[in-house]
Amino acid sequence: MSMQPGPSRYVLFGHPVSHSWSPFIHGLFARQFDHVIDYKLCDVGPADFRRAVIDFFVEGGSGANVTLPHKPAAAEVVNELSARAERARAVNTIIRRSATELVGENTDGVGLVTDLVRNLGVAVTGSRLLILGAGGAVRGVLAPLLEQEPREVCIANRTPDRAQRLCSEFSDLGEVSACGFDDVDNRPWDIIVNATAASLAGDVPALPPRAVGPDTVCYDMAYGRGDTAFMRWAENRGSTRPCKGWGMLVEQAAESYLLWRGVRPETKPVLDALVRL
Ligand code: ATR
Repeated sequence: MSMQPGPSRYVLFGHPVSHSWSPFIHGLFARQFDHVIDYKLCDVGPADFRRAVIDFFVEGGSGANVTLPHKPAAAEVVNELSARAERARAVNTIIRRSATELVGENTDGVGLVTDLVRNLGVAVTGSRLLILGAGGAVRGVLAPLLEQEPREVCIANRTPDRAQRLCSEFSDLGEVSACGFDDVDNRPWDIIVNATAASLAGDVPALPPRAVGPDTVCYDMAYGRGDTAFMRWAENRGSTRPCKGWGMLVEQAAESYLLWRGVRPETKPVLDALVRL
């Protein structure tokens, strides 16, 4: 009896992970190419993460995504890091060269930039860009944002020291300033990216009143059904362009798919399907 090879297996490691849209997104990507893939969720705590990754690949897994809280740990599990993942000190995509040769990449920043530039038509190049937050989410996207050569970049954080440390770390890629929310320049920014965890608690950083103007693109890296607290806040401040991270989610997934399978899926139909849900 001959053994039929099963579908290629992919997994998302996270904790928690049951809320994830990734199986849906990758399922739609696969259909575009008539690929047969099996994309599953794996909820694993920090103590068991390393073992779970190694077992998955030893047992023939083809590729993995990694989400909170494991992105920094994933950078320690792989054998090799891309330049981006090394900068980010975080991995969201693991590519298999062989069962014991795993490469870590970070597609979050490219996902954000692609969503801003291609999907939303926002010029990052030459813009005044304000980033809220200074945690892992910002570290993951900073290099691809700076590569677009914004005119001015400021990282504002509840704990200004943390923002300052990020600035120093990325200073070779461009000039970035750091401050607390109170000290943000009180003129309309072109783009404000919210990467604080505050939104999850329905909280919004207290920025000076004129930091948001009608044309300010207010992009919340968080997503979910309906408007986020940050989007509502932006609208109340007069922004006509509140956005959330659906597009970033789909674009980072498309980059993962490309790295795993050598083809980049079309993202628009998938984004449309997500928005309709
Ligand atoms: P992540 O990987 O999601 O970035 P993190 O490294 O814990 O997670 O960072 C969370 C970010 O959200 C930080 O910038 C944090 O500010 P501090 O550095 O001052 O802790 C920010 N944050 C969390 N809760 C917040 C709140 N209620 N108001 C403002 N900022 C908040």
